[in-house]
Amino acid sequence: MKNFEHTLVTDQQTNQQDLNQQFFEDVMAGLTASPKYLEAKYFYDAAGDELFQEIMNAPEYYPTNCELEIFTEQTEALAQAIMADGSPFDLIELGAGDAMKSAHLLRHLLDKQITFTYVPIDISGHVINYLNETLPQTLPGLQLTGLTGDYFDMLKEAAQLSERRKVVLFLGSNIGNMPVADAEGFCEEMRKHLSIGDSVLIGVDLKKDPRTVLAAYNDAQGFTRQFNLNLLTRINRELQANFNLDQFEHYPTYDPETGACKSYLISLSDQQVNFCDETILFKKDEYIYMEISQKYTVEQTNQMAADAGFKPVHYFIDSKSWFLDSVWLAV
Ligand code: AVJ
Repeated sequence: MKNFEHTLVTDQQTNQQDLNQQFFEDVMAGLTASPKYLEAKYFYDAAGDELFQEIMNAPEYYPTNCELEIFTEQTEALAQAIMADGSPFDLIELGAGDAMKSAHLLRHLLDKQITFTYVPIDISGHVINYLNETLPQTLPGLQLTGLTGDYFDMLKEAAQLSERRKVVLFLGSNIGNMPVADAEGFCEEMRKHLSIGDSVLIGVDLKKDPRTVLAAYNDAQGFTRQFNLNLLTRINRELQANFNLDQFEHYPTYDPETGACKSYLISLSDQQVNFCDETILFKKDEYIYMEISQKYTVEQTNQMAADAGFKPVHYFIDSKSWFLDSVWLAV
């Protein structure tokens, strides 16, 4: 997934500069805040994309396999649920990644000769380039328009592409990457970009044995650890910082009461990091809050849907009851 060559036309160059500027501002804001934090959306550079693939292949990381089971074992029911009244639609995927799960649905819809356009949206240009290159080969006949950028900017752009009914895929428990209040706001914002009759297929990781959850974010092979540290490497490279990776330790946590699974990088010593004319001081044991992966009950997701102007109309759950894909209708 590292084809950058042919993206460098003027428009996208400007876009790339804007993204770099935004990256700088967001990192600066996070490292000068108290407590310090970094934004999880920045994990996904080329190395981060590859580490996330490794995480998904790690035996402890269950969410991908659970959702994949839903997409392979319940494909026809999923297809029926999003076909709704049978009218043509745009299938917009937020955070498409490698589209491994959605590919099952796409193939099924193509086999059934359903009229739709697939619009994958991802913050990673690598990911969209990869999909643009591979999907037309693996799924002949697929109508495809890939968009690189932030979810809502691109959702707006996607809404201008056609007048068709919209079905938004938001899979992989990406909603969990926000604290609950932000997730509620996100659902409200998403509803504003949709019309009555549009729908959302949303994947949510469910609350379960806390040991199972924690192990998924602390895999024995250390891919999650590397994934977190890789963001420091990215900041070193792209923003000319000098983080010493040996002086930060991955610290994952899960609170079964709130369902918040959070990860931190802990500073192992008093140290300073130079970064674009700024000096950032770290105390020993000071942490950088890196990521949340929020877990929900089915009831909590129903409440969140209702509060945002959606009606949950279908539920798809894997055989272990660990993961939920729910269809919400905009009402
Ligand atoms: C891509 C946000 C769903 O939170 O489970 C996996 C990211 N981080 N291991 C998740 C992740 C560490 C993942 N999401």
